[in-house]
Amino acid sequence: MSNTNTSVENHFQNIISHAKEYGFVFPSSEIYDGLAAVYDYGQAGVELRRNLRDYWWKSMVQMHDNIVGIDAAIFMHPTTWKASGHVDSFSDPMVDNKDSKKRYRVDVLIEDKAAKLEAEGKVDDAKNLIAKMDALLTASDFKGLNELLTSEKIICPIAGNGNWTDVRQFNLMFSTQMGSVADDSDTIYLRPETAQGIFVNFLNVQKTGRMRIPFGIAQTGKAFRNEIVARQFIFRMREFEQMEMQFFVRPGSEMEWYNLWKQKRMAWHKSLGIPENKLRFHDHTKLAHYANAAVDIEFEFPFGFKEVEGIHSRTDFDLKQHEAFSKKKMQYFDNDVNPETGKPYGNYVPYVVETSVGLDRLFLLTLSNAFEEQILPKEDGTTDSRSVLHLPAILAPYKAAILPLMKKDGLPETAKEIADSLRKHFNIFYEEKDTIGKRYRRMDALGTPFCICVDHQTLQDQTVTVRHRDAMTQDRIHISEIKPMIDKAVEIF
Ligand code: GAP
Repeated sequence: MSNTNTSVENHFQNIISHAKEYGFVFPSSEIYDGLAAVYDYGQAGVELRRNLRDYWWKSMVQMHDNIVGIDAAIFMHPTTWKASGHVDSFSDPMVDNKDSKKRYRVDVLIEDKAAKLEAEGKVDDAKNLIAKMDALLTASDFKGLNELLTSEKIICPIAGNGNWTDVRQFNLMFSTQMGSVADDSDTIYLRPETAQGIFVNFLNVQKTGRMRIPFGIAQTGKAFRNEIVARQFIFRMREFEQMEMQFFVRPGSEMEWYNLWKQKRMAWHKSLGIPENKLRFHDHTKLAHYANAAVDIEFEFPFGFKEVEGIHSRTDFDLKQHEAFSKKKMQYFDNDVNPETGKPYGNYVPYVVETSVGLDRLFLLTLSNAFEEQILPKEDGTTDSRSVLHLPAILAPYKAAILPLMKKDGLPETAKEIADSLRKHFNIFYEEKDTIGKRYRRMDALGTPFCICVDHQTLQDQTVTVRHRDAMTQDRIHISEIKPMIDKAVEIF
């Protein structure tokens, strides 16, 4: 491994350690050595994750008068997944190494090889390899994929050889049984995307909400995928949360809406302070069975640019499939007049533009972007260091920490009074243990934007010291100014 790779790997490991040390993310059931690709959120993580979800909900639902939310059940009628195509085609071509018994996604093995070629400056070879793989995947030519693994000398990193089984398809849906008798007819699936809960409720919402096209339905909730390649912390999980919005439009107008949502969603990520050079679009060349256009928003994670959100023009595929399988009409009557014919548009199955972002992946993006290990020069020529999360105030788990300078002279009582008056409005941290310097460092690591220090002067003139997380500067303000200061910091719309 090169030095650069090592330092990238270390940086990522430091983010993972930080997430655990400060109560953001723990491995699931850790006392039993964890469960692969499943994670739990701790006391700070649950707040950050909820703030991300709330910010998404606010900007997608509250800020649009033509978008409403729902919360569909995770279990759905099994025919849903027949209709959506997931039973037949939600699968990945996999291959096992006969010696290490490890299973890999074939496209990931080949992409890793292409990345290596690119790093060695063999850019054309890398491009050719990806083009060959794409052609074989599109043709479902598994024998050809096996041959490609051999001709490219792609080996299992654990066994150190290319002793592969035949490439085979594996469905990524988890299934379970509903009811007391386990037989095939009772098999139900844990939803692999939240979108289908929106499609099956399209008419319920349209009619009861008297929605007129164009309109959207948003939902956040858990999704489950039996991912085979589950690496990179919370980037690819087996249980994760999605935040999806299906926007129903007039057929023929979908590309206009697709382009608009593409821009809107990119602007949303930037609104959270993600620098422009760390975000990019990646157009899909190989489209999913339901899409006529698709793009990913990618973020530069410590391990490279990777998808964080997908924007898909899903045509009328899903609603038409549900119409066919359920025998229930999925049509909308549009009484707006078509200027070309002078008559109402009439009945049609709407087209759909989808925005789909993974909450956990967004969490990792936020942590990666916010995390910094700073070396701080001291006046005596030596250095100090701190780990800091430069989180936007709206996302920070705690908006302020209230810290009495000492544990005596009535300072804790006054500090507690201030904390209690702010708690009604914000999540507040109160801490009286340790030196003030140590407490500042702990708050930096949690991403708390303001530390409010209560000292002896507070008792005399009702002023406190505000220490700012990023600049580490301090000002003195009146207690009555604390709330307006935090209000201003969390204001984003
Ligand atoms: N309804 C469309 C859909 O599900 P997708 O591209 O498969 O599209 C959308 O998933 C988003 O969900 C991804 O961009 C990613 O953020 C998140 N996601 C997908 N699989 C994931 C996994 N295994 N772990 C964490 N997040 C995942």
